[in-house]
Amino acid sequence: MLNVVVLVSGGGTNLQAIIDAVESGIITNAKITGVISNNKNAYALERASKHGIPGICISPKDYASRAEFNEKFLETVNELQPDLIVLAGFLVVIPPEMTAKYQNRIINIHPSLIPSFCGTGYYGLKVHEAALERGVKVVGATVHFVDEGTDTGPIILQKAVEVEQGDTPKELQLRVMEQAEWKILPKAIDLIANDKVKVEDGRVTIIGGSE
Ligand code: GAR
Repeated sequence: MLNVVVLVSGGGTNLQAIIDAVESGIITNAKITGVISNNKNAYALERASKHGIPGICISPKDYASRAEFNEKFLETVNELQPDLIVLAGFLVVIPPEMTAKYQNRIINIHPSLIPSFCGTGYYGLKVHEAALERGVKVVGATVHFVDEGTDTGPIILQKAVEVEQGDTPKELQLRVMEQAEWKILPKAIDLIANDKVKVEDGRVTIIGGSE
């Protein structure tokens, strides 16, 4: 049974998609054993508590330095002994000590088709604003392993979504969530829990294909 810890910062709709997929059996061989938020008011923490999942808040704001926070953050994660750490809308930079310790055991959902609209400064609604500004006709989402860079790790799954004429950033964000994020994030966790994801030379192979 894969011990999954989910890291969140906000509304937690991706966390909800994971909880629902575990409860409905779309994800097998995995259990969410903790949710960590950097924001004590994150609605994601309420979603966790409604499903009996322990929630913890740890914020850089409560520490004198980033180094002190990073140390405590790593300790908090270690105590939960995760097999897999899922960044589901988590907006704090992952310390290098954590990416080193949990190599190929941290995954992130990003709301674009990487390598488009990713890297520093591209998060949340900003990604969709940039896509509309550029006038692209196809957007999407990506699940990838987290390495020491920003959105640079091996890509596990991607799903494309069409832009519709007159879309606002919020409308586009919701369509990308509904059609892509809430599907590929649970699917990636299920594939990992069932030992179907292999990483070699920075590239991912899905055993048996991703369908
Ligand atoms: C999601 O769209 C996720 O892809 C994005 O933040 C949102 C969180 O929503 N993550 C990033 O932009 C990371 N770079 P949620 O809290 O409702 O899951």
